[in-house]
Amino acid sequence: MTSRPTFHPGELWLVTGASSGIGLELAKALARMGQSLALSGRNEKALLAARGACMELGAPEARIFPQDLAAPRGARELARSVREAMGDPVGLINDAGISTALPVIRIPISRIREQLAVNVRTPLVLTHLLAPSMRKKRRGFILNVASVAGFQALPRQAVYAATKGFSVHWTSALRRELLPYGIHVTALCPGLTRTPFFERSGLDADNRLAGFRWAWHMPQDVARAGIEGVRRNRMQVCTGLFYTVSRTLTRLLPRSFVRRLVAWGCHD
Ligand SMILES: NC(=O)c1ccc[n+]([C@@H]2O[C@H](COP(=O)([O-])OP(=O)(O)OC[C@H]3O[C@@H](n4cnc5c(N)ncnc54)[C@H](OP(=O)(O)O)[C@@H]3O)[C@@H](O)[C@H]2O)c1
Repeated sequence: MTSRPTFHPGELWLVTGASSGIGLELAKALARMGQSLALSGRNEKALLAARGACMELGAPEARIFPQDLAAPRGARELARSVREAMGDPVGLINDAGISTALPVIRIPISRIREQLAVNVRTPLVLTHLLAPSMRKKRRGFILNVASVAGFQALPRQAVYAATKGFSVHWTSALRRELLPYGIHVTALCPGLTRTPFFERSGLDADNRLAGFRWAWHMPQDVARAGIEGVRRNRMQVCTGLFYTVSRTLTRLLPRSFVRRLVAWGCHD
């Protein structure tokens, strides 16, 4: 089934990472389309502001669900509270994500576990818990926010790139599994985007590409591309010409060359 899906007003979407950056802009884009929203993040104040913005933009209903998704039962708790308070979502946006820009052996193991929990375990658990009701209704949308970092190995962000590689591959397989049940699965693969992510990851002083203005995108544009990708039933959405071309080149060029090029970009 490759038909373009339509969005019906008032349907419920769960957005993780909705307190900031790309997730916040994805929630706002859905609000403009009259969708109801379950907003997840840790920062309650930021979530309340996101809720206010979404209601103002046209969301019929928006509620906040503060939850640490790195906690062992975080994703499970989030799914449970959303269902109890608002019912089963028709759309799931797995946006929450973290990175640490350091060589692996210098990253505390607790931080590595946190990255795996937020970037990998959470989307897996939420999909596992929420896709069955979409399947029953034969209608659903899953948007996984991956990254161009998922297309190749990335020194100094080795764990992050591997988690995003998981997201890219997992999305394509899941899409094949779920399309027959009317569930559309898309990976959004942004390049550099102006959000707090860069500073939070310690990437600001660490990346040669970041010095080029043209390499950057605004989170609103990334979110727009992501929603458009879902509407067009795309498997993968890259933002901008530079990253679209680089994605193709990483497939065509010898891997050893790509590794050296990326290592140079990352100040390895
Ligand atoms: N910015 C970029 O250059 C870029 C490029 C490619 C891909 N991405 C991806 O885009 C996604 C969004 O990132 P962003 O750029 O918008 O960064 P951001 O502004 O830092 O947003 C990250 C979001 O994830 C949430 N989050 C982090 N840890 C969490 C935890 N333990 N429990 C619950 N929520 C947690 C944050 O919530 P709180 O703040 O409330 O904790 C925040 O809402 C990520 O998956 C990232 O990998 C970003």
